[in-house]
Formats: sequence, C-alpha cells, structure tokens
Amino acid sequence: MSAVKTSVARVESVTPIVWKGTHLALLDQRVLPGELCYLDCRSAEDVAAAIHGMAVRGAPAIGIAAAYGLVLALRDNAAAMPAAVATLAASRPTAVNLRWALERMQRQWEQHADVGLLEAEAIRIHQEDLAQNLQMGAFGAALIAPGAQIVTHCNTGALATGGHGTALGVIRTAYAQGRVVRVYNTETRPWLQGARLTAWELQQEGIPAKLVADGAVAHLMSREKIDWVIVGADRIAANGDTANKIGTYALAVAARRHGVKFMVVAPSGTFDLHCPDGAHIPIEERAAAELTEFRGAAIAPAGFDAFNPVFDVTPAALIDAIVCERGVIEKPTRERVLPVLS
Ligand code: MRU
Repeated sequence: MSAVKTSVARVESVTPIVWKGTHLALLDQRVLPGELCYLDCRSAEDVAAAIHGMAVRGAPAIGIAAAYGLVLALRDNAAAMPAAVATLAASRPTAVNLRWALERMQRQWEQHADVGLLEAEAIRIHQEDLAQNLQMGAFGAALIAPGAQIVTHCNTGALATGGHGTALGVIRTAYAQGRVVRVYNTETRPWLQGARLTAWELQQEGIPAKLVADGAVAHLMSREKIDWVIVGADRIAANGDTANKIGTYALAVAARRHGVKFMVVAPSGTFDLHCPDGAHIPIEERAAAELTEFRGAAIAPAGFDAFNPVFDVTPAALIDAIVCERGVIEKPTRERVLPVLS
C-alpha cells in the first residue's frame, strides 16, 4: 500500500473512496482533518488492512471498499473469491454492510464469472449508496420540525458512506430546508470521529455546530432544548435493536429521560434479518492501547488493562424512528421492520 499526500486547505469536498480502475484510493481518515492523504490499495489484503486499521471506516464505506477489494483480488486470480471474501469479512465484525456487500459481489461472480461485470457491480454498490442517502435525507428531514437542535454521534457523513451521509445526511437535508438551528456533535472517544471528522464536515457545510464531550450530553439535555438525537447504525436486528458506535446506548437512555426523540438512519444493507435481536449482534472489541494511549503516548499507568468495546446496542424500545431508503419505521418492532425490509 502506498500513500499520496495533498494539502487540506484547498479541499472543499472530499471523496473518501475513489476507484481508479487499476487500484482503489482510500482517504486515510486517521490523519484527518490535519492531513489529506490517500492510500493506494492494490489487493484485497491492502483493503482489509485499511478497514481493520480504520483508514476507511463507517459501515456503508467499508462495504463499498470491500466490494472494490474483491475486484482487485479476482482481477489477479479468478480462483481468489473464497480467500478474499474470508480476508475482507474478518477485517471488522460488527458492521453488517461489509458482509452484505461481499455476498452481493459473490452472487454476481457466481452468475457471470466476469471481472468487468464484477467491477460494474462494485461501482453500482457505491453509486446506490449515495442515492439511498439522499432518499433517507428526505424521509428523515420530514420528521424534524423547524427550529430543531440536534445531537449526533460519531461520523455518519460523506466520509462514512458513498456520499451525503446517513444521520449526517438527514441533518444536511434538514438544514438546507431551514429546519435545523444547531447541531451538537460528540467527540466520540477514543477515535474522535466526531471531533475530527463530523466537525470537519459540518464546518465545510457551514452548519452551526458545537463539539460536546461524550459524557456531557445528559447535562446538555437537562439544560437545553434538544429535539432529536440522530445517529447511524452498523447493524440493525430484525426486531429493530440497533448496534452503533459505543456511547449510542447512553445517548438513547439520556434522550428518553429528557423527552428527546431518537432517530436511527441506515440503508437496507445495514439490516440483518438473520439476527433476531441485539443480543445476537457481534460487538467488536479493539486493543486496550486505544484507551490507555493517545497518539502513542501513555495516558494510563503502564500495564493497565482496558475494556474497549467499540459498538453498543440500543434497544428498539428506545428508538422513535428508523429511517431507511425504503421508508420510515416508527417505534420499531419485528412486526414493523419485516414488512419494510423483506
Ligand atoms: O468505528 P467506526 O468509525 O467505523 O464507526 C462508525 C459508526 O459507528 C457509524 O455511526 C456507523 O457506521 C454508521 S455510518 C454511516
């Protein structure tokens, strides 16, 4: 994998995933917003390393990247499908969009065994994600009354998707329609997707926003009129239980305590109907060092252990609406999810 750096200052809109025909260029999100650096991936292993290493992140974005990873693998070796799927699928366990995209690519290969058609399928997955986000933006914005103050968590914008974003896409559309007066975006420890990435996207869009520490949101809700918490999802079970970035569950509990409505925004590829409820969703745990160190410097005593789950499950009972490109599921239950998704 090679890295190509350019200047951040002159960049107004940034594409995180660029298919170059010969290779895949992935914006290295670990160094944003300070540096704009694309990693050139030339194999499925390169793409899997970029996904596991968090260079590309966000459930839809890793699904799109993995689809292109299969094109790279099959171009070199027509027998590479099983091994490449296994390598890519193992790169991150919670976001089901990854498995969804790999299964779609496998079906395409089983039908035609043609690399050109496989490449076209990856490009379709990429383009469809943008179209779905625009549709979800319209559905979600319609739920928001003018004058709204919104809390969002992690990064769910153009950087995490094929463009526009899921939760941040709803916020973008609602702001363009004059419905949003302020966004509070959480820092999102420990990778700081909110402070580094969402803040950057909000600033580029000129949306009035304030950064808030993850632990300050319940206090914020007790002092300010907050209308909606709007978040994305990494996997939604058949009953509407939703896995998303660690801290989402705490936001949902605080929202219910303070009468704030809670919206989840995710495309149909984020639903896992084989998963009956949230207890069956695998939760990724990452290295203790992500908590005990900051940029390589120790912030906890040497040798101190840490529990570092990077997603949690918000029970469906705490969710007011799930917005997907097929429609809005209010007060989600299994009986309400299945007709929209099957
Ligand atoms: O660990 P990350 O940065 O991949 O986590 C991302 C999230 O949790 C997002 O909220 C989710 O993937 C939805 S992105 C549109």
